[in-house]
Order: sequence, then C-alpha cells, then structure tokens
Amino acid sequence: MKTCPWNLEGLLAEGLARYEFKAPDGRDLPPFTAGGHIDVVIAPEYQRPYSLAGDPADRSHYVLGVLREPPESGGRGGSALMHRAFREGRRVFVSRPVNHFALHEDATHSWLMAGGIGVTPMIAMAHRLHALGKPFDFHYSAASRTTAGFLKDLAQAPWGHQVQYHFKDEGQRADLMQLLPDFAPGQHVYTCGAPRFMDGVFEAATAHGWPSDALHREYFSVPEADAWVNQPFELLLQKSGRRLQVLAERSATDVLAEAGVGVSVKCSDGLCGVCALPYDAQASDAVEHRDFVLSHQARQHKIILCCSRAQQAGGVISLDF
Ligand code: FES
Repeated sequence: MKTCPWNLEGLLAEGLARYEFKAPDGRDLPPFTAGGHIDVVIAPEYQRPYSLAGDPADRSHYVLGVLREPPESGGRGGSALMHRAFREGRRVFVSRPVNHFALHEDATHSWLMAGGIGVTPMIAMAHRLHALGKPFDFHYSAASRTTAGFLKDLAQAPWGHQVQYHFKDEGQRADLMQLLPDFAPGQHVYTCGAPRFMDGVFEAATAHGWPSDALHREYFSVPEADAWVNQPFELLLQKSGRRLQVLAERSATDVLAEAGVGVSVKCSDGLCGVCALPYDAQASDAVEHRDFVLSHQARQHKIILCCSRAQQAGGVISLDF
C-alpha cells in the first residue's frame, strides 16, 4: 500500500468525479498495465477497486473515475463517501496495481466497447494500443453528453479522433450488431459497463462468430446471476494429499482458512480474482464456475474459490496446491 496525495480536477459529469493520485515524494508510481486497477482505501471499512484510466507509460500519476452510486441504486456507500470526503491534498492509501482485464497486445485488431463509467479501462487500453501502433476501434456509449465522463481526456488523446460516441439522448444508440464485424482470427473485443450493455456486446459478437476466448469483459459490481444451488463437495490439495469437505452452506475459502491454508479473499463476490487458485481439470469433477472475472480460457486451469464449487454433490476439485 502506498500513501498518496491526490488532486481533484473536478466533476467530469453528473455524479462522476476524476481523481489523480501522486506519490508524496513525487517519484514514479508502481507500473501498471492497460486494464489494471488499484484498490483505494476510502475509510477503514471501505476499500474499493477502481480502473486506471491514464496512460500506462506515464507513471507520474494514476487517473481514476469514480461514479457516485447512491444507496437507492445499489451503492454501498464507498463512492458517495469518496465524493464527499476526498479533497485535494488528502493522503490516502492505495494498493499496487493489479490486472484481471489484460490486453492481448499481439491482437491484429482490438475493439474497445465502453458503456458509461466503463470507459476508464478502455482509455488505458487505447493509450497502450496507440503506443504499440496497433489498430483499434473505440466505441463509447452513454446516456448523454452530460453524464459521459472523460470527454476532455478523450478529445486530448493523440488517438482521440478514433473514438466514436453513441449518446442515447441524441438518437445515436450503438447498434452493436452493425458495429461489430464478423470474427477474424487475431481480433479481440473488450467491454466494460453495465451488465446489460456488456451482455449486448457479447451477444452481438457471438452472433458474428466471435469465440469466447476473444471476448473480454470487466464487471464493476455483481450482476444479477442465476439462483445457484450449493452442493457439498470435496477439495483435494494435491501437494499434501489433504482432503477437505466443503458443506453446502460453506465456501471453499472458508474451509481452506479454517484448515490453516491461506488464500487471500477480498470481495467474496467473484469479482476481484484474488482468491483464484490453479486446479487440475483432468483430475477434477465438473466445476460450477460462478465468478465474473475469469475468461473461458482461464477457467480451464483456474478456479475462483470464494464462490465456485463442484457442480454435483460429492464432486472432487483437485487443487494444484
Ligand atoms: S475474493 Fe474476490 S473473487 Fe474471490
């Protein structure tokens, strides 16, 4: 964790503020990669992840966009407190950057599909792709210009002319089926925004023949999910041969912690990815992946233990641990 004073450049749009964090001694901050985020300690009980929206090549400061989510919209108080309490010069603690939404830098073409505040990781991705000289399309959908953030950052970016805006109140709602082309090998699409928007991007891409490994999304909050039924199952720790029983009302992370096996847990919602461990798919029974962070490809060898479980009662999950 690092202590940083920050500068508030001001409200970007209705309920959306832009923050800049700098190291107290003015040194470069730890490096980050496009799509990465930091955790901000807003108060002891509020630690929230925010995507980094700056240029990964510029380590003089981190840029964040924070949307105030009132309780009636499902907010849990962190963003509202940040808007209220964070003022210029305040020293705050943030984590080192982590990335669960990494860019495929070898892509032949990248499609950046942003919805609302989901524009933040896309800005870092566009900076990186531009630096690499890689082609990309950038579509930014928002309800209106007054609610869309980072318009100034986008206009000033050297690649800003590539951004195509879709403002609903101006009758420019994005026609995702029309915007996305048929899949060609080497292409990747990234989306971040409201779950319904990201579902629309995935559905359009899938209809155009895009395979799941070329589709990437990042959730800010837990979307409405299927009503899962928990089954009791067994964890096999391959390296020690220990077997741990996970009852229906427990999570694998609870059981591991009780057994003295340290697995980091942060969100407990399948969003942050810190509790991921490698598992042996060949030696395991079917896994019910309930997370919102791993790609289809990653799920072949990793499991998010705070929420995922064996599909069938009595199933065994063999952890490479
Ligand atoms: S603790 Fe965040 S995904 Fe498991």
